[in-house]
Amino acid sequence: MPYTVPKLTDYSEAALALAAGECLDACKLEADAVHTETELKTFRDRWLARKNGILTQINDLWLKGAPKEAKREAGIRVNELKMRVTELVDGARVSGASDDSLAAQRVDISLPGVRRPIGAEHPVVKTRNEIVSVFQKLGYSVAEGPVVETDYYNFEALNFPPNHPARDTQDTLFIAGQQSKPQRERLLLRTHTSPVQIRTMEKMPPPIRIVIPGTVHRNDPPDASHSPMFHQIEGLAVDTNITFGDLKGTLDHAMKALFGPTVKTRFFPSFFPFTEPSADVQISCIFCGGKGCRKCKDSGWIELLGCGMVDPAVFRFAAEKQPGYDSKKIAGFAFGMGVERIAMMKYGISEIGSFFAGDMRFLEQFA
Ligand code: DAH
Repeated sequence: MPYTVPKLTDYSEAALALAAGECLDACKLEADAVHTETELKTFRDRWLARKNGILTQINDLWLKGAPKEAKREAGIRVNELKMRVTELVDGARVSGASDDSLAAQRVDISLPGVRRPIGAEHPVVKTRNEIVSVFQKLGYSVAEGPVVETDYYNFEALNFPPNHPARDTQDTLFIAGQQSKPQRERLLLRTHTSPVQIRTMEKMPPPIRIVIPGTVHRNDPPDASHSPMFHQIEGLAVDTNITFGDLKGTLDHAMKALFGPTVKTRFFPSFFPFTEPSADVQISCIFCGGKGCRKCKDSGWIELLGCGMVDPAVFRFAAEKQPGYDSKKIAGFAFGMGVERIAMMKYGISEIGSFFAGDMRFLEQFA
């Protein structure tokens, strides 16, 4: 039989104590029988509901119905009972008995933990850091610049003539809605890291030695060796008495540091608007050691980067902000390389897209 609140006729101390004891016992029994959230809610309401909960009934029947002389004693009893019942109800847990409820909260240390794998450097980031550190050891600092660039820094100040094919919509991704601005202020996604050469020279007088890592974009259809976004590392050294010999020595050292001491370099005449003379750098094929194979198309050499002596026209643009860039007094060399291309060679990867597909099975190999 579920507990119901009895009417009291006897208000003696003993009778009050007995009634309160019975009530408390009933409450304890019911607390122990709670097994589900719904049962817990029903139990709570039955005892504590303001409208017709057991405590409210006790208040009405035992206290309000008490004769004047017994009111004080009944009040004390009822208050104490309310406290104890409230404690019991608040302490009740779904598991039932109050002892068990503690056990239910205990952590089972024998269960397997949540696995949180440690991240690893992406192969492109790893290669970028390696290249940067080769130059840092030679005393170069790191400079960076914006990916959304103006036509001025990406082309004009680098001596690109107005109709140079690199400005063409074929290669450059332009930001829309720029037509109302003068050409040099129009925004685009930088097609190379070379604009940071000018940006840095505008801020710092010579001498400087910097490497510039960063992402670049080109409107190229993706294939095994092209991606619309890729990474470059640019280099710039400006000082008095810098010669082409310094450029050759620096890049030969860097290639040996990256690919091993037996790698040879050779320099071929080339053209870039911002260097004069310009060269393409080839390294002896790291797959066949120079004998000739499929990877080097039987030539024994692989083309890896562009470089040259900074064109005096570029110094003139820099000198607008820093007069120290006077090509009568100083000279400099610059170079630029693709990070993915170097990473693909170092790790024998044949598809540039593998770097950006986000396939963990590919990336985990470099962890
Ligand atoms: N900016 C050139 C490109 O993206 C690469 C390059 C060539 C950078 C020669 C240089 C350089 O600094 O001297 O194709």
